[in-house]
Amino acid sequence: MAQIIDGKAVSAAVKEEVAQETAKLKEEKGLKVGLAVVIVGNNPASRVYVNNKKKACEAVGFQSFEYAMDEDTTQEQLLDLVNVLNRDARVNGILVQLPLPSHIDEKAVINAISPEKDVDAFHPVNVGRIMIGDYAFLPCTPAGVMRLIASTGVDITGKQCVVIGRSNIVGKPMAMLLLQQNGTVTICHSKTKDLKEVCLGADILVVAIGRAKFVTGDMIKEGAVVIDVGMDRDENGKLCGDVDFESAEKKAGYITPVPGGVGPMTIAMLMKNTLTAAKQQAGLE
Ligand code: GUN
Repeated sequence: MAQIIDGKAVSAAVKEEVAQETAKLKEEKGLKVGLAVVIVGNNPASRVYVNNKKKACEAVGFQSFEYAMDEDTTQEQLLDLVNVLNRDARVNGILVQLPLPSHIDEKAVINAISPEKDVDAFHPVNVGRIMIGDYAFLPCTPAGVMRLIASTGVDITGKQCVVIGRSNIVGKPMAMLLLQQNGTVTICHSKTKDLKEVCLGADILVVAIGRAKFVTGDMIKEGAVVIDVGMDRDENGKLCGDVDFESAEKKAGYITPVPGGVGPMTIAMLMKNTLTAAKQQAGLE
């Protein structure tokens, strides 16, 4: 039976580290840390995420600045706001909540955010820096996954790592981070042949394919570390991941649950990135 990786506990530890460092910065250097969160339109899921990000800012001692814009905001208006925030010294990190309404070009908005304030690490400059291993920010979800793997004590060096999913936000950067830690990395996707065989070779399996209970116990090597990035609904409408937890936990050595695994890590890593941004902008790192 697998050991459960407790994402709530690990994320609480990250937030505590950030809170302590934030308090110290304020006390010793008089520095405040600020995150601007921009939301356009009325997507209910985005509203929940933005509220959670604001709450996390309060919990770690950051200032948060929310900019809620109407659904019919033009791209030009949004770009104007991003430019104002780029110049606002109180704002160390800028997060534009995605998805944006379809009349706005997401790429143009991401490209407009100053790379030094891009705490999502979505800007091409930050993506490129991850590729060469010289980065300040990591995208929040893969960074959270790395922290969860570290919490197991399993050393990635020389391990067979399999990532299922090739998105720009999760799969691709995930593979780069595992590679940087000396893993032997295979990236799989919906067109991969013999996926079961590939997965059975994995010492570390990260699943981010977006299909409910896609990975089953018979695809998992005995004792593997299994990280489930999925957030899906099962046939009864119940929240579940991309991994069939019930069969997988019988084979895995360590496994993340859904909810309570990767999910809570994402916001914790966003807080960490914002603190890093503030320190860098103050010339402290
Ligand atoms: N929408 C869903 N996840 C994210 C995220 O990590 N960052 C942003 N900006 N938008 C999102």
